[in-house]
Amino acid sequence: MEIRLWREILAPYELAVDELVVKFNHIIEEFRNVGEYSPIELVTGRVKTISSILEKAQKKNISLDDIEKEIDDIAGIRIICQFVEDIYKVADIIRKRSDMEVKAEQDYIKNRKNSGYRSYHMNVYYDVETLKGTKRIQVEIQIRTLAMNFWATIEHSLQYKYKQNIPEHIRERLTSAAEAVLILDREMSEVRDEIMDAQQSFTMKANIVADILTNIQNLYKVANKQDVIRIQDEFFKIYQEGDNEKLEKFSKDLDLISQRYRAQSLR
Ligand code: GTP
Ligand code: MG
Repeated sequence: MEIRLWREILAPYELAVDELVVKFNHIIEEFRNVGEYSPIELVTGRVKTISSILEKAQKKNISLDDIEKEIDDIAGIRIICQFVEDIYKVADIIRKRSDMEVKAEQDYIKNRKNSGYRSYHMNVYYDVETLKGTKRIQVEIQIRTLAMNFWATIEHSLQYKYKQNIPEHIRERLTSAAEAVLILDREMSEVRDEIMDAQQSFTMKANIVADILTNIQNLYKVANKQDVIRIQDEFFKIYQEGDNEKLEKFSKDLDLISQRYRAQSLR
């Protein structure tokens, strides 16, 4: 790595991170569009700053020429899930993709680190297209629950503040907080089915309401205004009742009405 060219060298890593964030967000969309629960809650990405790349190279005795090969987290993606079970589903999704090749995996959930750190790591190869051709990029994907992420974020800030030498009494607090996070994740898994049911019916309702509103909006263009207002009032009434089944039936009836109007307007 020629340091004077660092901006140019890091550009493909920026591209890889941007593309992957889009792709993982699209997975969330795909699940939600069919009214299914998404194992991914949220995705973030970052490219390591040149200063932390140099710091890591120095610490690990990596020569400047080997930085791209030896530092496998220049491009980093973090995937946050609600439940521990989701993490393994996400790992499976990644393994099956043809645009990522898994180089290594570390399960710090089954084998938690001494610090108390828990997370699932995957190091993958990902190709990006540049003006100079295809470039194979190493990406580190960290998959963790919201609770694990909370702990890791706080612990990371403390490591930064104390330059790795966290005072013993704070270390103890962190260890017991890690234990609390573990229990929290377990408790959440216990009520997972209940939570997922609630979320699913929420997503389903949101999709139905969106369909109904699109239909009503389109009806304004083709139907008698009085009729549309009547339909709209009916919708508000059913919506307020809060019965999802009635809402679904209303949506289906509305579909038929819309189809009829569309057929008429085509004549
Ligand atoms: P690195 O030199 O950090 O890449 O170590 P490694 O190659 O052995 O990888 P490892 O899997 O240990 O860690 C990779 C990344 O996981 C780190 O860069 C952190 O983002 C995260 N990580 C690992 N251990 C800890 C920890 O104890 N606390 C926190 N907050 N994050 C950690
Ligand atoms: Mg690493």
